[in-house]
Amino acid sequence: MKEDRRLPHKRDGLQFLTSKTAFVIFIVLSYALGYFSAYYNRQPPQQPPSTAEVRTVKSTNSQGCSIDNFRVTTRCGDLVPPELIRRTVIDRIFNGTSPYSDFPPPHAAKYLRPKRIKGWGSYGAVFENLIRQVKPRTIVEIGSFLGASAIHMANLTRRLGMEETQILCVDDFRGWPGFRDRFKDVALVNGDVLLMYQFMQNVVSSEYSGSILPVPFSTGSALEKMCEWGVTADLVEIDAGHDFNSAWADINRAVRILRPGGVIFGHDYFTAADNRGVRRAVNLFAEINRLKVKTDGQHWVIDSVKLT
Ligand SMILES: *[C@@H]1O[C@H](CO)[C@@H](O)[C@H](O)[C@H]1NC(C)=O
Ligand SMILES: *[C@@H]1O[C@H](CO)[C@@H](O)[C@H](O)[C@H]1NC(C)=O
Repeated sequence: MKEDRRLPHKRDGLQFLTSKTAFVIFIVLSYALGYFSAYYNRQPPQQPPSTAEVRTVKSTNSQGCSIDNFRVTTRCGDLVPPELIRRTVIDRIFNGTSPYSDFPPPHAAKYLRPKRIKGWGSYGAVFENLIRQVKPRTIVEIGSFLGASAIHMANLTRRLGMEETQILCVDDFRGWPGFRDRFKDVALVNGDVLLMYQFMQNVVSSEYSGSILPVPFSTGSALEKMCEWGVTADLVEIDAGHDFNSAWADINRAVRILRPGGVIFGHDYFTAADNRGVRRAVNLFAEINRLKVKTDGQHWVIDSVKLT
């Protein structure tokens, strides 16, 4: 889900800081309007609504558009100890059998390239910086595509002596509509692009299948379930959809599976996609939770996350 890579990256220095507060207010207002209309649309159709009724809907929301409405407070399940996380994911998602056993299946083998790795910003210094800082036992990556950054992180953790570290890669492994325009060599088999198999093939070729597991579902459903199961991470990387709504949902869901004091970071803080959707989402999240956003190359970083 990296649909906006064609768009140019641009920095505009500190300019955005000055207008940040106005920006946050704008986002909150537009969101509140969205909520009101969604709330209104869910009402069962009784009589054709008159304009008077439309007006009363707004006044029934006594909370107004307070920033508190954006807080997510759902509690996750009891923590799974780090050494049981790989087993838990294999049991819950793969019916107890590693997805790498007997891989690749004969019907898919002929479509796979031995190693077809392509990523964007996958080798930035931020990965080594954060892995050294956090010494993560569990890393969750949201948006993995062909596995370039996951494989890079597995290499780093091994090189830095963290043999036990597990990297869970959440991705629906479908790319995005039309991604094959730029990846013509990725096979299309009855409408399926086999991206998960190619990702796994890349992991196997790099000899990291003991460290990296795919979690092949949409980011929303996967993060909800991981929270429910108590699967948590010390380091979470967000690099899926780059529009505001996707980034906002991913950050708010992912932070729930972050251990207290963990670090969340993500790519494309400077991308122009969706009027800088990633940055707007990150900044709003930081503002609401009184956290500080740092940058490292093209990445944003929020460390020592502790939600109130
Ligand atoms: C899941 O595993 C159990 C026991 O290992 C097996 O009996 C069952 O057939 C498996 N289910 C599927 C859908 O593969
Ligand atoms: C990490 O990658 C480098 C460069 O590709 C390679 O030489 C090295 O063997 C890898 N290290 C590990 C531990 O996989």
